[in-house]
Amino acid sequence: MSEIALSVKGLTKQIRSKKIVDNVSFEVKKGEIFGLLGPNGAGKTTIIRMIVSLIKRTSGEVYISGKSLDEDFKGAMNEIGAIVENPEFYSYMTGYQNLVHYKRMSRKEIPEEKIMEVAGLVKLEGALKQKVKTYSLGMRQRLGVAQAILHSPFLLVLDEPTNGLDPQGIREFRDYLRTLAASGVSVLVSSHLLSEMELMCDRYAIIEKGKLIHIETMEETTGIQNNSLRDIIFTTDNSAMAIQAIEKQFDFAVSTMDSSRITVSAAYEDAAKINETLVKSGCKVYEIAFEKKTLEERFLELTNHGEEVENK
Ligand SMILES: Nc1ncnc2c1ncn2[C@@H]1O[C@H](COP(=O)(O)OP(=O)(O)OP(=O)(O)O)[C@@H](O)[C@H]1O
Ligand SMILES: [Mg+2]
Repeated sequence: MSEIALSVKGLTKQIRSKKIVDNVSFEVKKGEIFGLLGPNGAGKTTIIRMIVSLIKRTSGEVYISGKSLDEDFKGAMNEIGAIVENPEFYSYMTGYQNLVHYKRMSRKEIPEEKIMEVAGLVKLEGALKQKVKTYSLGMRQRLGVAQAILHSPFLLVLDEPTNGLDPQGIREFRDYLRTLAASGVSVLVSSHLLSEMELMCDRYAIIEKGKLIHIETMEETTGIQNNSLRDIIFTTDNSAMAIQAIEKQFDFAVSTMDSSRITVSAAYEDAAKINETLVKSGCKVYEIAFEKKTLEERFLELTNHGEEVENK
């Protein structure tokens, strides 16, 4: 089995003269939750619809678990479970009947027990005997996920999956995706909600105006060990003295929080130098803390929107 669940190469969608998806390439690893991030209209849904073959590609290749959509369409599609638009159900049938119906239509042989297993995973066992028309939006969403994973796909593709879910539902959904990923399923998920993606994804790509502009891991984004500037908070016995010492030695932007805490905008490695300077100048340093960078800050940095705002 390939360790790459999804490989997308040069994916392009042109409508009339406009490329709404332009030469997008990325890979999703086995057991990874990979996010497609971008503002409204960036092209996320179009990318996903091409991957799950709901619309034609203008050009580019898609491999699912090593199987090419062009050369082994059925094989590749068997490895995918997806919720793209709102999942459609027969509302006059029960949740259980809907899943049985879907099981019968599947190209893969699905054992009967699998229905209760997936229902359990999405915590829907209790409501399976109810008609779908009595389901809440969250319950429908979970039934959608149950349906998408019924045939044990290698790759789960979800377009804005938490739309309409309440905070509790979003949290459960996230935990659930984690469980799935831990069992080896790979997930491609799109959203424009950065705070949600920050908690959900292992790695992400930023899509802007149809182009993939950046890929990095969430750890690189929010972790402290990358070279970008971040706020470092020094707690000392004397803020005024500390600021004076730093300004004498460095060019970093410094500000006072209160009589014992100052904020210095510097890179991770600078913290040691600043600490040394403070100690040498007679300050007692009690604590050095790094403000965690949020995905939102990183997103604005990468898409240059932060700069645009500052320049205005
Ligand atoms: N069939 C179509 N004909 C013309 N333009 C289209 C078509 N489908 C999508 N577009 C355009 O392509 C762009 C990307 O749309 P897409 O739905 O992929 O964006 P998105 O990133 O999913 O946005 P959202 O966050 O709002 O869901 C948009 O500008 C949209 O208007
Ligand atoms: Mg969309």
